[in-house]
Parts: sequence; C-alpha cells; structure tokens
Amino acid sequence: MNKYIDTKLCVCDVDNKLKTIPLEEVSCHESTGDCWMVICDKVYDVTNFLKQHPGGEDLLMEHAGRDATFAFQGAVHSDLAEQMLKEYLIGELPLDQRLYQK
Ligand code: HEM
Repeated sequence: MNKYIDTKLCVCDVDNKLKTIPLEEVSCHESTGDCWMVICDKVYDVTNFLKQHPGGEDLLMEHAGRDATFAFQGAVHSDLAEQMLKEYLIGELPLDQRLYQK
C-alpha cells in the first residue's frame, strides 16, 4: 500500500456486485462526450460531471481514460468530493490490474 494514498477510498466491494472493467476498456473512454477514469482501482464515468467540476473540466480531461488516483488525492479533495465519487462509480479493475485493493 502506498503511504501517500488515502486508504478510505480503497475499500473492496464486499458484495462483489461491481462490474469488472479492465484498463484497456477504460482507455477507450477519453473524450468530453465519454469520459471514464480510475481512482483507487475503481472505475468512474465522469462524463456528466466534467462541466460541474469545481477544479475545471480541463483538469479532469488530463486524466480521461487513465488512472487519476494521484491527481485526485494530490488535489486534497474534501470528504464531500469523496462522497460524490459514488454517484459516478461504474465498476472496478480486475484483480491483476489493481494497485491498492486485492
Ligand atoms: C470524479 C473525480 C472528481 C470529483 C468527484 C471531484 C470533485 C471536486 C469537488 C467537489 C471540488 C470542490 C472542493 C472540494 O469539495 O473538495 C473539487 C475541487 C478541485 N478538484 Fe476535483 N474532483 C475530481 C477529480 C479531480 C481530478 C482528477 C483532479 C486533478 C488534478 C482534480 C482537481 C481539483 C482541484 C485542483 C480542485 C480545487 C479547485 C479550486 O478550489 O479552485 N479533481 N473537485
């Protein structure tokens, strides 16, 4: 576990109901009309959040289709921002691609 990563976000899906989405699939969604990103091994569809992001659409687009864990944690987001993530959750990485939860 990386000591700089806030482990609150890195919780396994105990019910195992989340869809498994590999990085190869995430990388196909990297436009303003279809934007996915990974934060702590979870996959988020943030397409409808781009224009609402207080930090700006451009910052999110820099991580479109990619892992945004360090950027998200580095921006010192509030608990509210972390709560908001749930709304956009669509899946999680397969076990062999996870960096934080096994
Ligand atoms: C889906 C993922 C994200 C969500 C839900 C989100 C949500 C938010 C929210 C609610 C705020 C307002 C302050 C707060 O309550 O913390 C914020 C601010 C900010 N976010 Fe994000 N964010 C996301 C991803 C990112 C990413 C990937 C970056 C990349 C660096 C980023 C950079 C920032 C910055 C720099 C601010 C501060 C803006 C300012 O105060 O001027 N965010 N974000």
